[in-house]
Amino acid sequence: MADFVVDFGKLGQVPQEGRLDAPAFHRNHEPIWSAIGSLLSAQSGDVLELGSGTGQHAITYAARTPQLTWWPSDILPSHLLSIEAWRRQAGLANVRAPQRIDLMDPAWVWTADGQAGGPLAAMICINVLHISPWAVAQNLIAGAGRLLRHGGRLFVYGPFKRDGQHTAPSNAAFDQKLRAENPAWGVRDVADLDALAQAAGLSAAEITPMPANNLVLAFARIVRQN
Ligand SMILES: C[S@@+](CC[C@H](N)C(=O)[O-])C[C@H]1O[C@@H](n2cnc3c(N)ncnc32)[C@H](O)[C@@H]1O
Repeated sequence: MADFVVDFGKLGQVPQEGRLDAPAFHRNHEPIWSAIGSLLSAQSGDVLELGSGTGQHAITYAARTPQLTWWPSDILPSHLLSIEAWRRQAGLANVRAPQRIDLMDPAWVWTADGQAGGPLAAMICINVLHISPWAVAQNLIAGAGRLLRHGGRLFVYGPFKRDGQHTAPSNAAFDQKLRAENPAWGVRDVADLDALAQAAGLSAAEITPMPANNLVLAFARIVRQN
């Protein structure tokens, strides 16, 4: 029997408490892990995922990092249900209940057991910035500047432009398709994200190329001592 119940893309078919399956997860979770795994494995503390979707990345990576506590989040009720369903099935002590975080809110916060969450070891955001307005990127990176601890990293995965150029014709076509669907969406430029990072007190992106012309960007928070 399948290990999951319904394709992520077919939201009309979502049962109330179903574990959703994202086909892209099966393609990208190992490449992403190859870029972030050693950094995460060397940390302890809290990891916040934004736009967790089905919840599959958080569950999979939490199983590999028992010394970290994972806090998944999303805005959509059906996704929060899916994350919770995967969490219950996995039975991992280090994955906490999903919380609703809307990155369109410039003052977004995260909570740990009903209290304001403390400084984070890491944040991760996979395949969100191109299918949301630019404000989501602004608020994600500003939030990383507020919420990461010294040396903590924000990992972002997706398709990106570099210095104004698409990295492949397929990404250019994808960008056009996204913008036709919603003019506020689109493939973002690493240089624009670096500018946001600089304003938020983060390093410029450390870039790891991924299959299918995607990138992992890692922004580190460096707290300057005077
Ligand atoms: C393409 S899905 C990626 C989901 C998951 N990270 C993955 O890779 O399978 C984009 C996700 O971003 C979430 N999202 C969109 N706008 C958001 C916002 N303003 N704040 C938080 N999450 C948002 C969606 O609900 C969806 O779960």
